[in-house]
Order: sequence, then structure tokens, then C-alpha cells
Amino acid sequence: MKKITDLLTETVSAAFQSAGYDAALGSVSVSNRPDLCDFQCNGALAGAKLYKKSPMAIAEEVCKSLEGMDEFKTVSAAAPGFINLTLSDSFTVRALSEMSGDEFLGVPQCGKGSSIVIDYGGPNVAKPLHIGHLRSAIIGESIKRTARALGYNAVGDVHFGDWGTPYGLTIAEYKVRHPDWPCFKDDFDPAKDVIPDIDEKEMNEIYPYASAKSKDDPEFKAESRQTVVDLQNRKPGIYDLWKKIKDVSVESVKRIYEKLSVDFDLWYGESDSDKYTEELVKLLTDKGLLYESEGAMVVDVAEEGDKISVPPIIVKKSDGSSIYATFDLATIIQRMKDFDPEKIWYLTDKRQNLHFVQVFRCAKKAGIVDETTELRHLGFGAMTGPDGKPFKTRDGGVMTLESLIEMVDAAALEKLKDSEYISGSKEETAHKIGMAALKFGDMQNQPAKDYIFDVDKFLSFDGKTGTYLLYTVTRINSILKKAGMSYESAPKITGIYTTGERELSLALLLSPESVVRAFNEMAPSALCDSAYVIATAFSKFYHDNRILTEEDEQKRSSWLALCALTGRVLKSTLECLGIETVENM
Ligand code: ARG
Repeated sequence: MKKITDLLTETVSAAFQSAGYDAALGSVSVSNRPDLCDFQCNGALAGAKLYKKSPMAIAEEVCKSLEGMDEFKTVSAAAPGFINLTLSDSFTVRALSEMSGDEFLGVPQCGKGSSIVIDYGGPNVAKPLHIGHLRSAIIGESIKRTARALGYNAVGDVHFGDWGTPYGLTIAEYKVRHPDWPCFKDDFDPAKDVIPDIDEKEMNEIYPYASAKSKDDPEFKAESRQTVVDLQNRKPGIYDLWKKIKDVSVESVKRIYEKLSVDFDLWYGESDSDKYTEELVKLLTDKGLLYESEGAMVVDVAEEGDKISVPPIIVKKSDGSSIYATFDLATIIQRMKDFDPEKIWYLTDKRQNLHFVQVFRCAKKAGIVDETTELRHLGFGAMTGPDGKPFKTRDGGVMTLESLIEMVDAAALEKLKDSEYISGSKEETAHKIGMAALKFGDMQNQPAKDYIFDVDKFLSFDGKTGTYLLYTVTRINSILKKAGMSYESAPKITGIYTTGERELSLALLLSPESVVRAFNEMAPSALCDSAYVIATAFSKFYHDNRILTEEDEQKRSSWLALCALTGRVLKSTLECLGIETVENM
């Protein structure tokens, strides 16, 4: 189905054309003044310059040819030349019915036939997920689901950090602590030597320790640099220990992502890009882009007009090892070969903005992607404590993502303590509510901005929260149940009987617009806004009408149909946000 603004744009463009003006002026958008009209077109203002005529005169002419059209209840020209449009009830009912009958609930399938790779999550081997990993995981998951809702073949890749400097440090520290392990012997034989089991607690503790130690222990630092080179050369023993550490990390990370309902199609890591490094270096060399600078091999990526200095991108370090940027460039080669995507999008915190500028420029310059491939990075802000500083544990440490989830779950369970309405397990329901609260609390913000973590506010039943939205869905579930119908068996919407209903209908008709916007702007907040507007319009409609006891059968069944459509739209919007609903609460 087309978006409603696109449909109306067609109608208004035809009206501009029939009045003798350029059809391109007929672009329709959602009204800035919902008190005056539902939609507006500002084309007469632009047309005034083109046709040297007053905008009001043009607007009036266009309105003339729109008047009496079945789409509109009112069409009017407003100074200085706006065209204000209000939908007719009959058109609204038709559009709602069409939406209800559409398997995609009116969301245009504009991604059909295109692929997008979304790189999110970004965990690292041997480092536990901490709260800094939350946003990439949940915003990325939402963008992937939104892409799918639009018909894209969307591929989520976790892009594990597993092949760079940190793993040299980690393995070098293992060697200090366990010098007797066979993997550190020169005659290590993978066929018969066994590496002891990895203790997760020790593993999680090793990297920060080793990283700090390398700062004032040059010998250890040199050892760990050699270890990265060995690892990247897949030296037996070192490589086998790395594989073992990686397995433990992947398992632990998967367990936590599962709690967040975050899932990936590809569990690739930096190490998987390794097979394309040679091709990368050859390509950069053949194009004459790669040159030596202070021993390292680099590519210039600065451009005229840069407002900040963009340093050359390092592709190989002086010891020949690959680093973060190398992996990203080689991974682009891999993704182009595997999926030939139209877009590759990345989600990390905004401190990595410059890194991605360098990588994208280098990829374009080298022709790894062509001009039309969209490489895009969303750099998001931090989740902070009430003081505006990065959120910390009570004793000032970095909070693991797992502890954060446990904390939110516990708070949600406390809230549900006295509820009698929960049919299944209270823990499971609390977890769903907790995650809805956490995700909605995060994603309702503009991604680039920092936001304050406030579990009590997120879990509140009132206001713009995930909890309120889940509650609204349970309310609809219960109405339908009491009426003895299911979402699938709901009747038809036959009319608009009250003002509240009209508001709700318009909010529903606009929901596909928010899906498109959330995707185009990489901003799930558009989905949060839409869900919230729908939920509040629904609450008003529900409050103002006695739906179940309404005596006029036609009205009652139309209202029930509207409830069912509202529930479906809310559920599918929440689904795009990666939020699971609950049957009752
Ligand atoms: N592992 C990285 C980190 O912790 C994030 C990876 C993001 N993705 C990428 N393709 N660079 O910072």
C-alpha cells in the first residue's frame, strides 16, 4: 500500500496540473496545525515565485479543483498560501479498511528487492557486555526489524571484536598467569594437546588488567604486540587458545542478547574479514592509495572543506598487523561479495564518528563500494545517571549489561507483586515489561542525544512509557475477549461516529509514515512517538465511549473493529521496536 501522504500528493499534484501548474508542487505533508486540518500542501508558496503570481491566488485555484472530491471533508486556502486539507469520513473509513486488510498494515514495501546489512551490537571477545553495549543492540535490532517491515532483505551482523590489539593483551596475560599451559609451548600440537577450560570470571577480568598493565610495562606491551602478530598469523597454540576464549565469549554474549530479544543473522567477527585483507591491500596498492608513513601503511582520506582534521587511515601497523580500520574495510569487501547490499549501516556510540568517516571515505575512494552504495553510521549518545555522567554501579564501577537487565527485571517484578491479572509466570511477564520499559525509555529519545536512566519513570503506567503501551495492548486484548472475538475475526469499520474516533483513525493512518521515517532517519523514536499518539488517542476513545454496552449494533461492531486495528498496529509498531507484548498485566 502507498503511504497516505503519497496518495494525497498524487491527488493534489493532479489538481496543480489541471490548474496549469507544475505537478511537482503538489507535495502533501502531515499538518503542522492539527487544530486546523489533517494535511497541508505548501506548493502554492513555491509556485508563487515560479509563476510570478500571489501564492493565495494559486492556492485558491488549486482548492477549486479539489473541492467536492470524495477524499476531503474540507479544502481551504489559508494565508499566505497554504492549502489545508481535512479528510472526509468516507475516505477515512475506506483507508482504514484497506489498511486492516493489508498484511503489512499499510506499511509500503519500498525495500522489496534491496538488501541492507546492519552492523550492530559490537561486542568484544573476552570482555563482558556492559551498559555501553545496550544502545547499539536495541537500536540496531529496531532498525533491522523496521527495514524488514518495509520489505528489505535485512541482514544483521554482530561484528564481534576478536582480532585486534586487545586479544594480544589478553593472551599475553594468560601466558603470564598460566605459563605451563601447552598452548604456549613451541611444540604445541592441536591434535593431541588440550587447553584447560576457560574460567569466565578470570577471562572477564584479564583484559582490563592487561590493558592497564601495558601502559607502564614496556616489556609486557612488546610481548602482547608480538602475540597479536602471532594470532593474526594463526600460530598454533595461540590461535587455539583464542578459539577457546572466543567460544566462551560468544556463548555468554548470546545469552544476554537473548534476554534482550536481540538476534543476529551473522555472528561474524573481525577475524572473519581476515581472508579479504590481502585483496584489500592489493586493491589499495594498485590504485596507488597506500603509502608508508612512520612505518605504517596508510591512505589519505582528508577532503577539501573538512571542518575537523581527518587523519590518514591506518591499514597496516609497522609490524604488519591489521587493526580496527583494516577489519572494517575488509568486512565491506566481504559484505559486497556476499550480499551486494544497497546500504551498509553501522551503529556505535558517537565517539567512533571519525573512524567511520575515515573508513567510508577510504572504501569509496578505493572503489570497494560504488558511489551509490550507502555507507552510514549512527553515532548515539550515552545512557547516563541522574548527574548526566555515564551510568555507574553503586560503587562507581562500570555496570554489566546483565546486571542492568536483572535490576530492571527486579523492579518490574516488584511492581507486579500484587497484580491478580497475570495468567502465566509473573517472572516472565515482569521480564517482558521490564525490557519494554528499558527499550522504550531508551529509544523514545533522539539517538544522538544522551538520556537519563530512570527505572521508576520507565516503569510508570502513565505517560510516555513502554509500560503504558503494553498496558494499552492488554486493555484491547481484554475488550476483544469480552466481546468474544479475536484480532483476526474482528468485524469491519463502517463509519466515524465520534470525534475521538476520528483522532484515533488519523493516528492509525499515519503509522506507516512513522515506519518509513524511523528507517530513513535511523530513529526508532519516530515509532515511539507514533505508538504513544495512538495509545493516548485510544485511551480517550475508550474513555469517551461505552464500547461493549453500546446498543447500536453497527456502531458497536465498528468500534470493536477499530479496537482490533489499533491493537494490531500497536503490536506491529512495538514489534519493530523489538518490544514483546503481554496478554494481560
Ligand atoms: N567492537 C567495537 C567496540 O567495542 C564496535 C564494533 C562496531 N562495528 C564496526 N564495524 N566497527 O567498540
